[in-house]
Amino acid sequence: MDTLLIGPFTQLLPMTNMPLKGALNDGQLKVIEHGGILIFKGKILAVGRFEDLKPKASKIELVTGHAVCMPGLVDAHTHICYAGSRAKDYALRNSGKSYLDIAKAGGGIWDTVTKTRKASKEELITGIVQRATTHLKSGVTTLEVKSGYGLSVEEELKMLRAIKEANDQIPSDLISTCLAAHMQPKDWNGSASEYLEMISENLFPILKSENLSHRIDAFIEESAFSPAAIVPYFKKARAMGFSITVHADQFSTGGSETAIAHNAVSADHLEASTQKEIALLAKSNTIAMALPGASLGLGCGFTPARQVLDAGGALAIASDHNPGSAPMGDLLTQAAILGTFEKLSNAEVLAAITYRAAKALKLDDRGTLQNGKQADFISFPTDNYQEITYHQGQLKPIHVWKNGIKID
Ligand code: NIG
Ligand code: FE
Repeated sequence: MDTLLIGPFTQLLPMTNMPLKGALNDGQLKVIEHGGILIFKGKILAVGRFEDLKPKASKIELVTGHAVCMPGLVDAHTHICYAGSRAKDYALRNSGKSYLDIAKAGGGIWDTVTKTRKASKEELITGIVQRATTHLKSGVTTLEVKSGYGLSVEEELKMLRAIKEANDQIPSDLISTCLAAHMQPKDWNGSASEYLEMISENLFPILKSENLSHRIDAFIEESAFSPAAIVPYFKKARAMGFSITVHADQFSTGGSETAIAHNAVSADHLEASTQKEIALLAKSNTIAMALPGASLGLGCGFTPARQVLDAGGALAIASDHNPGSAPMGDLLTQAAILGTFEKLSNAEVLAAITYRAAKALKLDDRGTLQNGKQADFISFPTDNYQEITYHQGQLKPIHVWKNGIKID
């Protein structure tokens, strides 16, 4: 058997044997000193002490200098398929206008829809590849990407096909999500419910037949869709076998309850969630996804991540990378900053961007380093894992491996 051993890593964090839900302390983090990863055909055969694995290796890829190894990061919520910039919105917000005021005045999501509709599929692919490559260098080996700037059957298809084709061009894995329910398109002559009905009737079957996405997202908000309008849409999606995820409780509540009622894999944002929503999330199977990049981009409060964990909920953190509310896009920076404001342990921050985020995408084959998982991992040039969050994203991975292959 042609096995490859990679190491030794000064510290190796497999992120195993930790629960999906609830608070974590750093004592629960398993740390293997002088660790190694044994790989066969892109999958992990064994993780342990480098010296113990040596006899089982047919080849060795030596790691020199200090290195802390952990699973490749999973960014489970992005909108990196888009055209154009919204720097103007950012300046307007910083001069006192609100996100919703700007949207009402013709900026916001609709502005990006207009620009994205004008772009060709090839232009969208170029943008996705560029952004996903930057994420990969920052350690993100799996990235969710939403549509939602097309808002018609044809334009949503253009986006989802671009995501699928971009996925074939890059080492990272792109998981696509249909967000045709991002807002009611301004050129739609009908009600919100009629728009959603049209999308579910005409777009959902093509998502299946072209294998473009198995995930449906909706923005539940006063400026987007009400829970009442979304219920039949989600029912149809679930009946067709799609997973549900929701942009929930960003400015007002209602979204997370709808998410939980439809057994959504995740409820994302939650900046406006109160004790009631936090308690419901904690009891549910729905992962609470904090998006600190949106709080930083909009200059508003963070998701109550500490409360979610203390109530017993599952917390993931994602970048929400998009041109409007979260243009920065650096997951590790954002997760580390959320950690300082919400008082999260290293274990909680790292779990939220590895195995807990993978769970939100229903990916059981990654997020931890152990036998049978994909050999997706990263190493930081340090001898102490605490340095990773301490540098708040400025300590970048020195190497990234995807399916056991080192990316340069
Ligand atoms: O997750 N909240 C809605 N959607 C995105 C923003 C998209 C945009 O402003 O273009 C979000 O923040
Ligand atoms: Fe988003």
